[in-house]
Amino acid sequence: MKWVKDLKIGLLGLGTVGTGVYEIINHQKGNYFASSKERAIITKVLVNDINKSRSINIPPDLLTNDFNEILNDEDIQVVIAVMGGMEPEYSYMLAAMEKGKHVITANKAVVSEHMDILLKTAQSNNVSFLFEASVGGGVPIINSLNQTLRINEINEIKGILNGTTNFILSKMTYEGWDFDFTLKTAQKLGFAEADPTADVDGFDVSRKLSILSSMAFGAHINDDMIYKRGIRDVTRFDIDMFKNLGYVLKYLAHSKLENDTYYMTVEPILLTTKDLMSNVNEEFNIISINGNIIGELNFYGKGAGKDATANSVVGDLLYIINSEFKKIEIQLDKNLKNGGISGFKGNYYLRADVKDHDEFSLVLDIIDEYSIKKKMEFSGKKLYIITEEMNAETFNELAGKIKSANINNFYARIH
Ligand SMILES: NC(=O)c1ccc[n+]([C@@H]2O[C@H](COP(=O)([O-])OP(=O)(O)OC[C@H]3O[C@@H](n4cnc5c(N)ncnc54)[C@H](OP(=O)(O)O)[C@@H]3O)[C@@H](O)[C@H]2O)c1
Repeated sequence: MKWVKDLKIGLLGLGTVGTGVYEIINHQKGNYFASSKERAIITKVLVNDINKSRSINIPPDLLTNDFNEILNDEDIQVVIAVMGGMEPEYSYMLAAMEKGKHVITANKAVVSEHMDILLKTAQSNNVSFLFEASVGGGVPIINSLNQTLRINEINEIKGILNGTTNFILSKMTYEGWDFDFTLKTAQKLGFAEADPTADVDGFDVSRKLSILSSMAFGAHINDDMIYKRGIRDVTRFDIDMFKNLGYVLKYLAHSKLENDTYYMTVEPILLTTKDLMSNVNEEFNIISINGNIIGELNFYGKGAGKDATANSVVGDLLYIINSEFKKIEIQLDKNLKNGGISGFKGNYYLRADVKDHDEFSLVLDIIDEYSIKKKMEFSGKKLYIITEEMNAETFNELAGKIKSANINNFYARIH
């Protein structure tokens, strides 16, 4: 493909992220396009509803609801895909690359599910497929990880990858709010979706962990393979207990590779107040990678939002412009085994709400079966224990028995 001075771009989606991207490129917000000799311009924007009122000034003739107007426009060399959902965006990305157009996306759902095919399609059509904004919003993790992998083996990734759940847990910890009130407030402020399932039950985080771990470990690991447990059951009682015990609850993604087996989990984890990640609050994200040469590296910043995410998307565009269409090489050809959560262990906190003596005895019997009590207390109708160190799989089995007796409970591993 030949470099053209006036690079023409097709934008798919003009919502939160698309609007930010449009402003940086066509309104020349920020340094690069205001001062650069290189010109790049969005010439077509695909939306659902061309008559909808928009928060930015955009010439109406730029808007279309027909993807073919972008696909068949020979002058458009780059497609920026920021619509969301799986289809039709996945098919649009493939079609654009097959037509020789570079593709940039922020869509974690599509990348985590189809990274392998998307990268192969880019390779066979000699175009770039870049997805910096799909993980960590404004945090520059994908290109940094790719760069670090040229020299290092990375066998461990940890992080707080979801701003909504981090906002909820921060407010519960520092403002004394309960879960439902915090979630409603997050929804009012636009941090949480009307349907919060993807955030609070771990689907959003596991997609991001799947993207990072696939790149680092060299095999496509679908997010279905990742153990995930949400934060819906945490109560004010638990948060107060953590404060007394000197811990902070965080929603952590963690993956590691040992020999040819990977272990991955997305779950609430207790950190000591000294841990760097326990001090990451509100909507901020942190991602820690561990390289055999560089050691531990931490990336911190805004995990979502219009400007932060658009900054990452346009960063990918500059990568294409400045490297004159060179590709990122990511190999996903290793044959790895899934070790589930058996690679994680630690002491556990468990709280169970027991209504009467029978439930109290039942919980005690279950705990005694595993003989793991380290500390146990009873407060009101709540029983809480801290266990000896135990394997994550074994503890989940124990907690499953309490859950199946219909006894409300919450538990978290101490990191
Ligand atoms: N928001 C963030 O902070 C953030 C952060 C990181 C990554 N992301 C990712 O970025 C992507 C976009 O997110 P967003 O928050 O910007 O979404 P959004 O605000 O819901 O905007 C989606 C846009 O895509 C258009 N669209 C949706 N389906 C379409 C279809 N079938 N045909 C044509 N146009 C369609 C919509 O058109 P109308 O305007 O006409 O409705 C809208 O302009 C998602 O993949 C998301 O996961 C978002």
